[in-house]
Amino acid sequence: MTLRLAVLASGRGSNLQAILDAIAAGTLDAEITGAWSDRKDAQALVRARDAGLPAHVIRPRDFADRAAHDAALFGALDAAGPDLIVCAGYMRLIGAEVLAARAGRLINIHPSLLPDFKGLHTHQRALDAGVPEHGASVHYVTAELDGGPVVAQARVPVLPCDDAATLSARVLAREHPLLLETLRWIAAGRVQLYEDGVHVDGERTLTPLQLAATDRFA
Ligand code: GRF
Repeated sequence: MTLRLAVLASGRGSNLQAILDAIAAGTLDAEITGAWSDRKDAQALVRARDAGLPAHVIRPRDFADRAAHDAALFGALDAAGPDLIVCAGYMRLIGAEVLAARAGRLINIHPSLLPDFKGLHTHQRALDAGVPEHGASVHYVTAELDGGPVVAQARVPVLPCDDAATLSARVLAREHPLLLETLRWIAAGRVQLYEDGVHVDGERTLTPLQLAATDRFA
């Protein structure tokens, strides 16, 4: 089944670009219904339009409160009929009411090995903590910031010479294959969220899938 995706992004859009490239190359059986952003200057919108896709800006400042913004945004998203909503660098919390109505249909990619380093500045915080390993996680979205059930992770070493920029680049290079492989497994029906957590191939799993050097799950 071709997975219908809606993508939410606030910035650069390199994860959106990775999805676009994989669809174009025939390595991901998906289609993108559109891109939505809270920021009109998001480069992600340019990438979507360049690919011939609808790109929409729904700005929080045009609404009375978070609930009103969420309602407008997710009403527009729903109208496009996605199977899955992908937060790819979407920098806003999403309200619990919106999420409850779409449980198991929103994922986010976060640049750390969750549950470590939720929130911002993850690369500098990993360096400050002196961890030997860092990475990225794809998780289902809940109202808790970066707190939903983790589906899959990609790991990279932290090197003695690293600063936040070099570490960020090493993680980003693994984020893209991580997101794509997760989407392939969701498209194939191999990953689902139930009330008791993430199920892989029909069984509840407590350990995230791990991306191997082959860009497939180990
Ligand atoms: C990525 O590091 C992602 O993990 C985080 O925000 C960044 C978005 O990058 N949530 P991009 O906009 O996809 O290039």
